[in-house]
Amino acid sequence: MTDRYGVIGHPIAHSKSPVIHRLFAEATGQDLVYEAWDIAPEDLIERVRQLFAEGIRGLNVTVPHKTEIARVASRLSSRAELAGAVNTLIVHADGSIEGDNTDGAGLVNDLRQNLRVRLAGTRILILGAGGATRGIVPALFETRPRDIVIANRTPEKARELARDFRLLGRILGCQFQELGGQNFDLVINATSAGLHGELPPFPPSILGPGTLCYDLSYSMHDTPFVAWAREQGAGRVSQGWGMLVEQAAESFYLWRGVRPDTKPIIAKLPGAPGATDTMQARLA
Ligand SMILES: NC(=O)c1ccc[n+]([C@@H]2O[C@H](COP(=O)([O-])OP(=O)(O)OC[C@H]3O[C@@H](n4cnc5c(N)ncnc54)[C@H](OP(=O)(O)O)[C@@H]3O)[C@@H](O)[C@H]2O)c1
Repeated sequence: MTDRYGVIGHPIAHSKSPVIHRLFAEATGQDLVYEAWDIAPEDLIERVRQLFAEGIRGLNVTVPHKTEIARVASRLSSRAELAGAVNTLIVHADGSIEGDNTDGAGLVNDLRQNLRVRLAGTRILILGAGGATRGIVPALFETRPRDIVIANRTPEKARELARDFRLLGRILGCQFQELGGQNFDLVINATSAGLHGELPPFPPSILGPGTLCYDLSYSMHDTPFVAWAREQGAGRVSQGWGMLVEQAAESFYLWRGVRPDTKPIIAKLPGAPGATDTMQARLA
């Protein structure tokens, strides 16, 4: 029987997950369907329990449900526990439901495998202190950077996050204005400002000619952060397309025990040298 999976969020029409998972299923010969459900916050728990009762084998979870959804899980993986957020639900053979978080693994896989970045000993700056930052900090610490600085519009949130993760390595929370005069090897934009076409006042001095600027957000064209980084002369820039595909691959592996090859999709993403109109049209 064909297994059913899907993604839940509110809104959900923009989600690329159905396209990506269908491509994975085609490439690996897995017999599954992948759907998308728009679920309002007030209906979340009841509707998700209903989906599982109908036989859904696993779900991806996106904004705004990543925290609240933990209530339907029988247990959380250690990375979901650390992140305080769940983006993948897995139904095990005994019927128990595990909540996991694949965002951090997705980012690190994209940085290391696709962008060939060496992270050990580097200085990493993360702009933003929301759910995505919580998801990526533990995975970034596993790569043994020299330190991680988190800067946020609301500095209390950055400091709180730094306190929560202080046992993993050297980490500091601050506001954007405190970054002046500091240089980083990797600058990750984890704010959602770009979604509204906004660019927070990041000091240009944070970038050097060797800095990689990585925007977790993604778009068919340059995001405001990527456009700004190019103007400031950043060494390299990347959008979060690769992370999106890699975190999906990690979820697919958790569900099916088969790791899809992400390279053929990554090679055709917007901005990649082999990008095709056909693939971009499927992702648009
Ligand atoms: N590529 C991927 O696979 C992937 C995966 C996960 C997330 N993402 C992206 O990552 C981004 C963050 O997601 P999230 O879940 O962490 O969101 P979130 O929990 O809502 O956090 C949003 C963050 O952005 C900051 N922010 C929002 N508007 C701002 C503005 N105008 N100026 C300065 N700061 C602003 C907030 O600062 P305050 O604390 O001051 O409000 C907060 O730190 C989103 O764009 C999301 O699409 C991508």
